[in-house]
Amino acid sequence: MSQDPNARSGPGFNRRDFIKGSGAAIAATAAVTAAQEAIAQDAPAKISTAGPHKVTLQVNGKTHELMLEPRVVLLDALRNDLNLTSCKEVCDRSACGACTVLIDGKPIYACTRLAIECQGQKIETTESLANGDGVDVVIDKFVEHDGMQCGFCTPGFAMAVRGFCNMHPKASKEDCRKGLGGNICRCGTYDGVLNAAYEAAQKGGA
Ligand code: FES
Ligand code: FES
Repeated sequence: MSQDPNARSGPGFNRRDFIKGSGAAIAATAAVTAAQEAIAQDAPAKISTAGPHKVTLQVNGKTHELMLEPRVVLLDALRNDLNLTSCKEVCDRSACGACTVLIDGKPIYACTRLAIECQGQKIETTESLANGDGVDVVIDKFVEHDGMQCGFCTPGFAMAVRGFCNMHPKASKEDCRKGLGGNICRCGTYDGVLNAAYEAAQKGGA
């Protein structure tokens, strides 16, 4: 007895269903391929090369035009290209705060921020805390309270304090303690830094 090849004998596929399904799959594949080709044709205009690009940075009130590869982090641009060596590389992974600088008045870790991302923003390093003959109140308070030990942590702490005071003038001591939680001092000079931060905060933002 001959059997209709398209007859459905159960819940599974018959041959017609299979051929219809295959046709749909082929059509879908063709559509995807066409879309990929369209993307590929657009691609050259959108891809940036990894070679050096002109990057304009505003640092401590001055505009600098640098040629930097897109992979260069802000910390390296500041230290290697602008000779601003107050920001330090210690952990290189957003864990210690030694590389802290201000961007638009807020503390950030320069070791994990791409320089190219910082164009059009106001960048400040610890060097900015010395202005002409005077120094920022943060430096005065660090000296007064002996808030420094080694040269690796102190500059980052100073910028963290300056950024904290900008954002939280008149902060309480407890708020200062929490606000400085992103910086580590391995020698334990926290109390001095805390007292300096508290007194600087009472003077308000920069
Ligand atoms: S060096 Fe950037 S957070 Fe430690
Ligand atoms: S200031 Fe660097 S370890 Fe304390």
